[in-house]
Amino acid sequence: MANDNLPLAGKIALVTGCGRGIGRAVALALARAGAGIMVNDIAAGLAEELAGEIRALGRPVLTCVGSVGERAAVDEMFARIAAEFKGLDILVNNAGITRDNFLLKMSDKEWEQVLNVNLTGAFYCTRAAAVLMAEKGGRIINLASVTALTGNIGQVNYAAAKAGLVGMTKTLARELAREGITVNAVAPGFIDTPMTAAVPDEVKKKLISGIPLGRTGTPEEVAALVRFLAGDEASYITGQVISCNGGMYI
Ligand code: CAA
Repeated sequence: MANDNLPLAGKIALVTGCGRGIGRAVALALARAGAGIMVNDIAAGLAEELAGEIRALGRPVLTCVGSVGERAAVDEMFARIAAEFKGLDILVNNAGITRDNFLLKMSDKEWEQVLNVNLTGAFYCTRAAAVLMAEKGGRIINLASVTALTGNIGQVNYAAAKAGLVGMTKTLARELAREGITVNAVAPGFIDTPMTAAVPDEVKKKLISGIPLGRTGTPEEVAALVRFLAGDEASYITGQVISCNGGMYI
């Protein structure tokens, strides 16, 4: 059971879209704190590689390859969590994609894909998780973004989805409190991941120049905050949006 070194011992966590980037760091941080992990990603190779690392830490691990934006895939994933892990304590809605474009060039498809994965996917997972967490309680942590708080040129779809997650966080914190479930959002700023690597160099320079700490963040710096919110020490925190952004938005 839980001890100082392994505060999440005996807990089970689902981290969506954790093949790389922030999700991968979160899954490893929770596993190092003692949790068993359901690894989810659309990329089978990345998911298997991460599962191997978690297994090597001595934690129980399952892998589910599929998109959180597909209802059938989510249903199947939660059926496996219920059957094989017999429950869920922590849900981290991390899966997210970008399809950046200026408004007038943005296609219906770019809008729909981002809303589907980043917002509808979190809705499907949260609804299914709430069933498994009912009465015994749990932790739901949504990966929002500084973009939800400030807006960002070229990201109307992404900012809308992330702001949607903020609304979902506040509403479900109220709705699920009586089940002992806390719901919080983490809003990372500009973090060094494959997602931000795709940003054009000129734009990147401009974004970094607006960060008081003068650098991008690391996935591990975000993961440390998620791990805190997932643990017992965060028991009185719910409905909050907590930034991890080097001062990019104050
Ligand atoms: N601020 C100021 N100017 C910008 C800008 C920005 N954020 N983005 C683009 N521009 C300017 C360009 O500098 C360029 O100016 P000039 O015409 O004077 O040279 C002009 O707008 C056109 O830019 P592009 O040539 O890049 O136009 P494009 O149509 O090829 O691409 C774009 C547009 C897709 C929006 C592209 O600029 C882009 O990818 N921008 C980055 C968007 C971004 O910040 N994404 C964040 C991804 S990381 C993330 O999402 C994680 C998170 O949570 C923070």
